[in-house]
Amino acid sequence: MSERFVGKTVIVTGAAGGIGLAAVERFASEGAQIVAVDLKQSPLEDALALAKTAGVDAIAVGADVSDAADVRRYIGEAVSRFGGVDGLFNNAGIEGAVAPIEEYPDDVFDKVMSVNVKGVFLGMKHIAPVLRNRGGGAIVNTSSVAGLTGNAVISAYVASKHAVIGLTRCGAQAYAAEGIRVNAVCPSPIDTRMMRSLEEGLRANMDDAEEPVDVVAAMQASIPAGRYGTPAEVAALVAFLMSDEASFMNGGVHTIDGGMTSA
Ligand SMILES: NC(=O)c1ccc[n+]([C@@H]2O[C@H](COP(=O)([O-])OP(=O)(O)OC[C@H]3O[C@@H](n4cnc5c(N)ncnc54)[C@H](O)[C@@H]3O)[C@@H](O)[C@H]2O)c1
Repeated sequence: MSERFVGKTVIVTGAAGGIGLAAVERFASEGAQIVAVDLKQSPLEDALALAKTAGVDAIAVGADVSDAADVRRYIGEAVSRFGGVDGLFNNAGIEGAVAPIEEYPDDVFDKVMSVNVKGVFLGMKHIAPVLRNRGGGAIVNTSSVAGLTGNAVISAYVASKHAVIGLTRCGAQAYAAEGIRVNAVCPSPIDTRMMRSLEEGLRANMDDAEEPVDVVAAMQASIPAGRYGTPAEVAALVAFLMSDEASFMNGGVHTIDGGMTSA
């Protein structure tokens, strides 16, 4: 494994979840000091253990990414512990409900937008001055293939992930001159808790189908690679985008989807 992040500090939000934890493992294995953020501190034990195994320093911060005071706090704790920050993986997100637009609960719509859009916005807003102080840095936002295409039953999620791409492009425009790059990743279905939840929701919406539908097989068949991606595959792309190897990549929207959106 290379050592692209030795001497650097990276914040990962949603670090107790599938993709976030894989990112922690990847950044730590390449030498980064880790600030692992998720709603509660206790599920972040896994992230701390991975950092310890890799021999890097790490802290865990329980914070709600949609709450401005919490965002200022997780960034503040990162700065006071490590003296600065070099990268933010703005990754925490929720799937919301699986329901047709007319049946989609308003409060769930608001919650999805709050976590997935405002959370990313607040992360960018409050990390920018910290990265500026460091002379530059990188932000990677987690969008989705749902940020590129529509879907009849996850409207809030789709809208939120389209918005993440918009915010990414705004950040690239705003900060490029200061050496701060902002990119988005768009994964297809990845094997995590979120997919189990979405599969369950899709099954419930297909109760009326004439023939029983194997939701997982149908999802996999929609991906030319014929399978879901792994969190580690996403983490590899995120680490590349965060690293100096991607120094001329800014405002990009990077699919990692086994060919799903290539048709
Ligand atoms: N799994 C997929 O198929 C897939 C595909 C494309 C994009 N994504 C995106 O990847 C990101 C990570 O998803 P995952 O698959 O690892 O899911 P996950 O559910 O395993 O992890 C998400 C994590 O975010 C945390 N989180 C939720 N709300 C939060 C909040 N308000 N503040 C702080 N943390 C919060 C959760 O506690 C959880 O640990 C999400 O943004 C998701 O939308 C996932």
